[in-house]
Amino acid sequence: MDVLLNGACGRMGVVVRTEVAKGGHPGLRLVAGVDPSAGEGAAEVEDGAPAGSLPIFAALEDYDGLVDAILDFSNHAATKALCDDALRRKAALIVATTGQTPEELALIEAAAAEIPVFFAPNYSLGVALLTRFAREAAALMPKPEVEIVETHHDQKLDAPSGTALALAHAVRESLPEARIVEGRSGYGKRTPAEIGIHSLRLGNVVGVHEVHIASGDEIITLAHEAQSRAIFAEGALAAVEFLEGKPTGLYGMDDLLAERLG
Ligand SMILES: NC(=O)c1ccc[n+]([C@@H]2O[C@H](COP(=O)([O-])OP(=O)(O)OC[C@H]3O[C@@H](n4cnc5c(N)ncnc54)[C@H](O)[C@@H]3O)[C@@H](O)[C@H]2O)c1
Repeated sequence: MDVLLNGACGRMGVVVRTEVAKGGHPGLRLVAGVDPSAGEGAAEVEDGAPAGSLPIFAALEDYDGLVDAILDFSNHAATKALCDDALRRKAALIVATTGQTPEELALIEAAAAEIPVFFAPNYSLGVALLTRFAREAAALMPKPEVEIVETHHDQKLDAPSGTALALAHAVRESLPEARIVEGRSGYGKRTPAEIGIHSLRLGNVVGVHEVHIASGDEIITLAHEAQSRAIFAEGALAAVEFLEGKPTGLYGMDDLLAERLG
């Protein structure tokens, strides 16, 4: 599959290029990158892996070659241009960027009516499992009180993280009456029908998500720690491979897990 990488010079773009250069995805070929910061001293590919000669363009419309898929690790503000471009090319779209507005999420859903789209706020296999475990624990524990704590590096733009929001929505499938409360403050007791989310921003933390589920006199704590960005790149590249030959539709990590588990 020929892949166009949007956000090619960012932290994740560089990690994706590094992982592809290591040769673990022989069926994938990065044919071009897009990044408005190209030429501003963008980072080189890490770990001494050969960077190859990936041509980088300032905007999606500047690249007129053929591609099978567009992999996006950029900024949510790119969503409209990204969806329009994927629809124009009839390419599969893999959205890894987080922080979309409701209007931008609607654009992604609309695109999935015409092309195969994979969308996940977190491409780690471990977080996909954490999400499944949290959903099940909230469904099985009596009167559960759920609080989610997420920690990320101090350069992260969106809070709460897309992953924390996705975890909260997964838990709410088991607690449909619950309200998601971001960053509780003020005076007053917690109401039973709440799912709290708390965001810490410090240092160079790649990503930690904890789900605390209290029920009566016991508390379950489920936690996931990302120790490198390579796990997100690997998952996103697996999602590109997953979409090969898939019909139009919106896919997520549960679909990837289901295919892996047979
Ligand atoms: N889904 C996941 O598993 C996962 C994992 C890590 C990061 N992310 C998300 O991926 C995104 C990128 O993360 P990052 O750490 O690489 O950020 P970053 O800021 O290091 O890189 C973003 C890059 O996108 C470029 N960019 C900005 N606007 C653009 C546009 N309109 N078109 C093309 N490129 C544009 C920037 O110039 C920058 O080089 C963020 O939204 C982040 O939350 C998702």
